[in-house]
Amino acid sequence: MSAPKAYIFDAYGTLFDVHSAAGRLKDEIGPNADKLSQIWRDKQLQYTWIRALTGRHMNFESVTAAGLDFAIEAVGSVPEGIREKLLDAYMTLDAYPEVRDVLTALKNAGARLAILSNGTPNMLEAAVRSSQIGDLLDANISIEQAGIYKPSPKVYQLGVDTFSVPASEMSFQSSNRWDIAGAHAFGYRTMWINRTGQPDELLDMPPDRTVDTLRPLLELMAA
Ligand code: LAC
Repeated sequence: MSAPKAYIFDAYGTLFDVHSAAGRLKDEIGPNADKLSQIWRDKQLQYTWIRALTGRHMNFESVTAAGLDFAIEAVGSVPEGIREKLLDAYMTLDAYPEVRDVLTALKNAGARLAILSNGTPNMLEAAVRSSQIGDLLDANISIEQAGIYKPSPKVYQLGVDTFSVPASEMSFQSSNRWDIAGAHAFGYRTMWINRTGQPDELLDMPPDRTVDTLRPLLELMAA
């Protein structure tokens, strides 16, 4: 198979560590920090699916805040001021360690690169700025352009519209297995970045490749 004509990346969990927000505030949050962070992420995603299916779109900043409010209630409480600090930290999440190197190598080889994410333009711009990868991206695409969340086909179409390349000639990277299912169903080549060793699922909508970081993309590029 020829090298992909463009590479599209999910943002949260794939390029940016969603648990780095609570991680930075672990000492202030206390022993429930990891549990809080996991419930927050789970609820945030559930709300996106419910909003997509009900046709009641609300942007990712609001959904992220609503997920955090649920998580805080679920763990009992958090110290004063933590809610706002967590939401601020979510705007400047840590990029995973290999992200800048891999994107730089792809870019230097002439590849076209984009983010395609549930995040609002504001969130995505802030994340890209704080992790200093903006110069490497040809596009930073928010689902707000489609007005509906992943895994709606309308979202995956945004990548095709951006590069004017068929999905079957692009590689879509996500750490979120359900996002890989959506991208596969739409017609992308897919690479599941299984960073946390999750079992496979949604077996009729499989990734083309499964890896544990973005580094193996460099081999794909050389193919
Ligand atoms: C995103 C979510 C799926 O960045 O993490 O689109």
